[in-house]
Amino acid sequence: MELTLIITGGVLLGCLIGLSWFAGSDAPFVPTKQEKIKKALSLIPLKNKTFYELGSGDGRVVIEAAKMGSNAFGIEQSWIRILYSRWKAYRQNLPNAKFIHGDIFKQNLSNADLVFIFLLPKGVEKLEPKLKRQLKKEAVVITQTFHFKNWKPYKKILISDKQESNALLGLNKVEGDFWLYRK
Ligand SMILES: C[S@@+](CC[C@H](N)C(=O)[O-])C[C@H]1O[C@@H](n2cnc3c(N)ncnc32)[C@H](O)[C@@H]1O
Repeated sequence: MELTLIITGGVLLGCLIGLSWFAGSDAPFVPTKQEKIKKALSLIPLKNKTFYELGSGDGRVVIEAAKMGSNAFGIEQSWIRILYSRWKAYRQNLPNAKFIHGDIFKQNLSNADLVFIFLLPKGVEKLEPKLKRQLKKEAVVITQTFHFKNWKPYKKILISDKQESNALLGLNKVEGDFWLYRK
């Protein structure tokens, strides 16, 4: 009886952790591919700049930005992904990669030089007025796959060697499509 309870509890806990790994209020966790991150970030000089990623997932973009010499911050609502990201930064000896647990809409971004976003259209739309209001002059924003409706980008790039769609995002969108905006 006790063993059955322990096994059931373990399975339930495993399901909970599994589900929370993918959950996200303004987008589920769908990571950007590593080779695309490098190419997208190399478009902007990052050395000694302040970089923010809104919805930092497993930390891979923030870690790459930190390796490029920026003071990099990831904001993420999933504790499990925050802890994993912090562990990766620690293992790679990157004290300039910092991860903040919280809601991206509550974060003050007035010191950001570059902001990176990969969220679903609803989240991107909600962020547009906040970023326009809060960011300093000359700050750059990069959106991926889903873009601002009213803000005109100064650059659009497609980093993809083949047509890819993403079932997890539920839409037949091409990944690796990055748009750049300047405040
Ligand atoms: C599509 S994933 C992108 C992950 C990462 N940016 C990347 O490109 O590899 C979106 C991430 O945003 C997080 N997220 C969604 N809404 C959020 C919110 N309101 N506050 C904080 N994080 C959020 C999700 O938990 C998820 O990890």
